[in-house]
Amino acid sequence: MKKIAVFTSGGDAPGMNACIRAVVRTSISKGLQAVGIRRGFQGMIEGDFWEMQPYSVSNTIQLGGTILRSARSQDFRTKEGRQKAYDNLKAQGIDGVVAIGGDGTFTGASIFMQEHPDIAMVGCPGTIDNDLYGTDYTIGYDTAINTAMDAIDNIKDTANAHDRLFFVEVMGRDAGFIALNVGLATGAEAVLVPESRTDVKSLIDTLNANYSKKKNSSIVVVAEGDDAGGAFKIAEEVKKHCPYETKVTVLGHVQRGGRPTCIERVRASRMGLAAVNALLDGKSGVMIGEIKGETAYTPFENAIKHHNEINPTMLEMVEILA
Ligand code: F6P
Repeated sequence: MKKIAVFTSGGDAPGMNACIRAVVRTSISKGLQAVGIRRGFQGMIEGDFWEMQPYSVSNTIQLGGTILRSARSQDFRTKEGRQKAYDNLKAQGIDGVVAIGGDGTFTGASIFMQEHPDIAMVGCPGTIDNDLYGTDYTIGYDTAINTAMDAIDNIKDTANAHDRLFFVEVMGRDAGFIALNVGLATGAEAVLVPESRTDVKSLIDTLNANYSKKKNSSIVVVAEGDDAGGAFKIAEEVKKHCPYETKVTVLGHVQRGGRPTCIERVRASRMGLAAVNALLDGKSGVMIGEIKGETAYTPFENAIKHHNEINPTMLEMVEILA
């Protein structure tokens, strides 16, 4: 192995820069060349490469976003697009690639590798949703839950001051990890997640019971992918049957940006270093993860096919502690 490329793809996540930095500096410290590919698979197709030096990643560990930028490439879904990407990698003399992203990224990487097995690829899990199988934590998750927690703490102040019920929508198109953990951490009255069916009638009963117990304000955390249709829709229905004055806040992309937390930077650095070592050990087609504090290697197909399950006892905890 002589030259390792790194790229970020799909939804950006805080900590991606720490991971890029670790890939670049580990590669160079092992005598390899490091190349950044801008805008993920699309940049691979367009030949948007950046010969990186150790100083290229100076002062980036504390930054959110991704210095390599990100994209969701339609062209890479075509065989011609992937062939173009392969030709560009070959022309650059790249023999190993580190892909930082989520399941869409690893789906693309997996198809690419079946067609072009002579270029080794390993992945680092980068998504705020924490929904990738094969790792306890994804890069971005810790920062996102802390951002959402801070925002909901602020909302609680004003909710309480005005005796209001707030529906706060957090990210998580297919997964409720953010909602569940942030809901617990902020003492929310209810948490609605895609993994469990939402019963709006019983939510209304709970909120009315709270109201009659003189609970002057309430917070309901809703994952964006919840089956009842999102915070606005649920709030509309609840309003009709509940005496609380009701407001909705959608936190949205605020959760995707910002300075990564300490543990995020440490985890992302560990994963970036492990990715380069894995390539040097001859591994390919695997996602680096961390399970119970140990580095784990999960084939892309498994990381894509399976999903991490939320812990149902945590949903019960929300009810007990509310
Ligand atoms: O990063 C994952 C995620 O945050 C999902 O929870 C969300 O639905 C999606 O990305 C939105 O991403 P975008 O706005 O970039 O399409």
